[in-house]
Amino acid sequence: MNSFMKKTIGLTLAAALVATAGFAASHTAKSSNAAVNARHAQMQMVAYNIGMLGAVAKGEVEFNAEMVNSAATNMKNLAAMNTASLWIDGTAQGEVDGSRAKSAVWSDRAGFIAKFKQMEDASVTLMAATSVEDVQAGMGALGGSCKACHETYRGPKN
Ligand code: HEC
Repeated sequence: MNSFMKKTIGLTLAAALVATAGFAASHTAKSSNAAVNARHAQMQMVAYNIGMLGAVAKGEVEFNAEMVNSAATNMKNLAAMNTASLWIDGTAQGEVDGSRAKSAVWSDRAGFIAKFKQMEDASVTLMAATSVEDVQAGMGALGGSCKACHETYRGPKN
């Protein structure tokens, strides 16, 4: 190998190392905290299940007691998840990228959990639905529980 090639390979390797280090640094700074990703996943599951119930309520999907019970049960379980490991300190909006959780989640944890309880209760009502009318009747309280919590505990878009 001539010295030109050695130099070129050396430079290429150095450039690759710098690029890797740069990527690692920016990745750490930009990536969301794992807890934020996990609770977003929780909310996505919530949105999926209420979407199924909403489709039934609107008549887009035929009423099926098993499916309605499944979606409502999932919502109940998602609402009952323990908040401690998902809403950890230092992950409020502004403290970590991607978070829209207001500081009230930490300063008023009891109130925050009470909003989840509201969602849980509305889900339990829907678990017993035996008709489209039952689903329609229960949607107000369920949707209202999302709104009630988001109003107080979710910040503006990032
Ligand atoms: C007890 C409070 C609470 C309840 C109840 C609640 N949410 Fe949320 N939700 C939040 C908070 C806080 C965030 C922002 C979390 C963050 O960015 O860290 C959020 C975020 C979301 C997101 C965005 C997720 C993402 O990927 O960024 C969706 C979608 C969502 N909620 C849907 C719902 C729906 C639908 C309901 C009702 C069935 C609901 N939520 C009930 C508190 C709640």
